[in-house]
Amino acid sequence: MFGFGKSPEKNTSMEKLVSLCKRRGFVFPGSEMYGGFVGIYDYGPYGVELANNIKAAWWKAMVQEETNIVGLDSAIVTHPRVWEASGHVGGFSDPLVECKKCHTRSRADHLLEEIGVSADEKMTVTELGALFLEHREKLLCPKCGEKHFGEVRQFNLLVKSNLGNFADDWTKEPVYLRGETCQGIYLNFKNVLDSTRVKVPFGIAQIGKAFRNEIAPRQYIFRKREFEQMEMQMFARPSAEMETYERWRAKRWQYYLDLGFKEAHLKWHEHEHLVFYAKAAWDIEYKFPFGFKELEGIHARGDYDLTQHQEYSGKDLTYFDPTTNERYLPHIVETSVGLDRTFLAVLTEFYDEDELGGEKRVVLRFPKQLAPIKAAVFPLLKNKPELVSKALEVFDHLKKEMRCEFDDNGNIGKRYRRQDEIGTPHCITIDFETLEGNQKDTVTVRDRDTGEQKRVAISDLPTVIMGS
Ligand code: GAP
Repeated sequence: MFGFGKSPEKNTSMEKLVSLCKRRGFVFPGSEMYGGFVGIYDYGPYGVELANNIKAAWWKAMVQEETNIVGLDSAIVTHPRVWEASGHVGGFSDPLVECKKCHTRSRADHLLEEIGVSADEKMTVTELGALFLEHREKLLCPKCGEKHFGEVRQFNLLVKSNLGNFADDWTKEPVYLRGETCQGIYLNFKNVLDSTRVKVPFGIAQIGKAFRNEIAPRQYIFRKREFEQMEMQMFARPSAEMETYERWRAKRWQYYLDLGFKEAHLKWHEHEHLVFYAKAAWDIEYKFPFGFKELEGIHARGDYDLTQHQEYSGKDLTYFDPTTNERYLPHIVETSVGLDRTFLAVLTEFYDEDELGGEKRVVLRFPKQLAPIKAAVFPLLKNKPELVSKALEVFDHLKKEMRCEFDDNGNIGKRYRRQDEIGTPHCITIDFETLEGNQKDTVTVRDRDTGEQKRVAISDLPTVIMGS
């Protein structure tokens, strides 16, 4: 159903992730009650917490901990000329082939890659068409299995809208939902320079939605039509572009290690077919259940973007560098990662199955920083009002400091399993010893990963939970 690839072993673990996400409220298929809507997904109660934590971790690393990067939240809809200047109206397309029998549309480069032929969307239609012809005997429609395809042709990915256009035939002058968030950054380059104390080199970071008419959205939330990007554009002195680029390549690699990813699950991929203005383009690939695939792109884009917007808008975007007394268009180093792909990578990385106390369990070993719920508070028994009221008191106190959950439903073992499956690092149980005796005002804190329990004073809970 989701087209996860052919390896049975990989299929299994992707199926498990998808099922966990649905069962535990991380991800729901978009418009599910109407039969779903291809390429669209909703984040459920735990999904939105995880997504927010991923965004916060990125923002912390890219804005808070940097001295020369500032944030931005630009509009999703821009003046339509923006997308002409950026080259998207003319050239933001993917190679499409249509099955002559069932009319399923597929990405030509993806079909070639699946049979082991090196291809990507940066190749020309002629190049891809020739490869398609050469390998036509092995290329099968993923839906009906036939091998009769039409011509390879380019399909523009920009999503059109009639916002602000009240004409009957608005398609003649559409506006576009942004295909990438970075264009909003280029548009505000001068505003940021004029309104803050930044000087080149400096960066602008932004998190936000992007939209693409993906021909074949696949692999769950890996390739969506509405998705979110976390992008940073560094504006550098032209002569410093490549040094800046290498520094950011190293920093972005380290970012994933700091998040807790195993280095063996990451891989560099250098683009073979560069767009004409790019000096370098490398992807960080992650080992998803369906194989190593692009997680983040890091690009040295030269002065292409500012040159284009300068030309199309007629506004001067040059920068006067007081340190060198030169005037120039800064060169851009971009880091661009999808929130949804990070979400899937995080789930893949921290999903585990083990046995604890003789029982099999599924556990998400999220680092504390990413865990949707930091602590769950339980009264030992639901039918003892004194335990319930003390547990509610602890919960009311803790919820001011962190995202936590109160649960008095089912036996303690079941409650632990539920929290393990959503990756809660700590479960706090209020028992009879909490109420009186020499352990009064202490609770048990159970560690998600080891199952070990220790007694902790209620007053120490915030430190124990957030500090360990
Ligand atoms: N501004 C550069 C840019 O947009 P890109 O390689 O097209 O470059 C950057 O996209 C990142 O955005 C990708 O590495 C990926 O993580 C994410 N991304 C792109 N298309 C996506 C889609 N259809 N669904 C989910 N994430 C996507």
